[in-house]
Amino acid sequence: MKVTLHIWRQSRQSTKGDFAQDGRMVRYELDHVSADMSFLEMLDVLNEQLIHKGEEPVAFDHDCREGICGSCGVVIDGVPHGPERGTTTCQLHMRSFKDGAEIWVEPWRAAAFPVVRDLVVDRSSFDRVVQKGAFISVGTGAPQDANAIPVPKHDADRAFDAATCIGCGACVAACKNASAMLFVGAKVSHFMHLPQGRVEREQRARDLVAAMDREGFGNCTNQYECEAACPKEIPVRVIAEMNREFVRAKAVEEPASDKGTGGHG
Ligand code: FES
Repeated sequence: MKVTLHIWRQSRQSTKGDFAQDGRMVRYELDHVSADMSFLEMLDVLNEQLIHKGEEPVAFDHDCREGICGSCGVVIDGVPHGPERGTTTCQLHMRSFKDGAEIWVEPWRAAAFPVVRDLVVDRSSFDRVVQKGAFISVGTGAPQDANAIPVPKHDADRAFDAATCIGCGACVAACKNASAMLFVGAKVSHFMHLPQGRVEREQRARDLVAAMDREGFGNCTNQYECEAACPKEIPVRVIAEMNREFVRAKAVEEPASDKGTGGHG
């Protein structure tokens, strides 16, 4: 098949107040694209041709190419990760496009994800949020028997639903407010349904929400674009759970340093 690509090219990192830098859409035509290629393999072929011609290859992020690591996201025809629901860019195949298609490829667009180059964005804001409490710090000692801490099936399922988040950032890219509430909600929901996670639940809710605000992510206005774009189909229910956890945490004693953080949703 043959496709025409319009790809965002940008040689320098975005800075605050100068989002696009030297960015522009560049048109490329590609012949003999196999319908069985993944979207990233198609970009590999384009890059081989560009290198052969002495031009700069298109920079894009990827690692596992198995829908696990969350590093490969780009906006394809205006949709994070492209047209297939519940699918990462690396798992998207060219058979999802018509022969002769014109395809527009852009990086995530969010102030908290500055473009580093071409289709690569800096998502370390997510890492900084995670570092504030998306983990369990209680000592667990040696590995216990699997049945030492019984977890009801319903709770285990809910925790696992949230734990499937791969931190790709599609939720932020899809949201008109660049909100990270699906991502942060997934972290809160993951732990609040497990007995081990409930030990630090108040601190976690306060710290993750405060970190999310500091990074410049927007608020949620219930458009559900995040749920539609999420390659792991994490439900917006996790946002409601996070809001409940946050209100609950505010209702119990809070450290003076965290006072003043507003509500969400
Ligand atoms: S490259 Fe890892 S999820 Fe796509």
